[in-house]
Amino acid sequence: MEQKLEAIRAAATQAISSAPSIDELESIRVKVLGRKGELTAILRTLGELSPEERSRVGQKSNQIKAELEAVLESRKADLLDSRINETLKEEWLDVTLASAGASRAFEPGRLHPLSQIQYEIENIFTSMGFTVLDGPEVETDYYNFEALNIPAHHPARDMQDTFWTEDGNLLRTHTSAIQVRGMERLKPPFRVIGPGRVFRYEATDASHENTFYQVEGMMVDRDISVADLIYFMKVLLKEIFGREVAIRLRPGYFPFVEPGFELDIHCLICDGKGCSVCKQSGWVELLPCGLVHPNVLRYGKIDPDKWSGFAFGLGMNRLIMMRYGINDIRHFQSGDIRFLRQF
Ligand code: PHE
Repeated sequence: MEQKLEAIRAAATQAISSAPSIDELESIRVKVLGRKGELTAILRTLGELSPEERSRVGQKSNQIKAELEAVLESRKADLLDSRINETLKEEWLDVTLASAGASRAFEPGRLHPLSQIQYEIENIFTSMGFTVLDGPEVETDYYNFEALNIPAHHPARDMQDTFWTEDGNLLRTHTSAIQVRGMERLKPPFRVIGPGRVFRYEATDASHENTFYQVEGMMVDRDISVADLIYFMKVLLKEIFGREVAIRLRPGYFPFVEPGFELDIHCLICDGKGCSVCKQSGWVELLPCGLVHPNVLRYGKIDPDKWSGFAFGLGMNRLIMMRYGINDIRHFQSGDIRFLRQF
């Protein structure tokens, strides 16, 4: 019996230490230590032995069992180790290699100054109860001109040289088209702004671009007057420039407002003393505006006998130029990273 045990021990130890895989190891374990295993079979026959033999063989079997379990565990650990080493040989990682996070400086992106000012303006107006509207950049003649009291052949169409599409639509020349869409959707009283990109068929120079950004504003309520308009424009300018800015209103002609104005601000670059930006006048034209023309309200299905409103069209590029002292509008579209990094 004891010889048999020794034979099992020797054979199993040998098999375990040369087992090529963890699966193989498992089948050896089953064969020797499993319920129907060789060693288990011997333990089962213990009852047939004399008490004295029983305790000797029993002790020996248990000792071999423990020993084989330990050998199995250590072989298993070795096999796992070598499996990991195999994997690592294929999938190695050079931690000294340059990576974006380690050796190269990581530069976060930022918002274009036009987006920044747009969000600022949206915040200022939404805090005063305005809703932000959007509209398409490719517009119809109706929304861009006709419903704004600019019929075909009206000379005011020449004020805004237009990019026409082949099918008779156009690239909107101003965000005023958003006013018309707003009136269609909303019942008075309402307050809306509509920021967006606009296009003019124009030669470019330091103060003209064929593509620029405006924010339209419109408030319709009972008895709106020029005083309301001035109030909201002053709040806007104070928030944007962080201080009170002097303004003046000059008469200005736009077919969709009556009366219409050009709102000028005191030039912040030279503080009104006269410079190239304000063309030595001390004032900068910033904000065309006025009271909404009754015809425009009618196009928007709003009764001009009951309701009145103001509207304005703020040029965002020029506002930023004033705020930062930028002297050429073409920077905005240049994509020049040196320009954009400054904001
Ligand atoms: N839409 C006009 C423009 O771009 C500006 C404007 C808007 C004037 C609203 C008055 C009222 O020239």
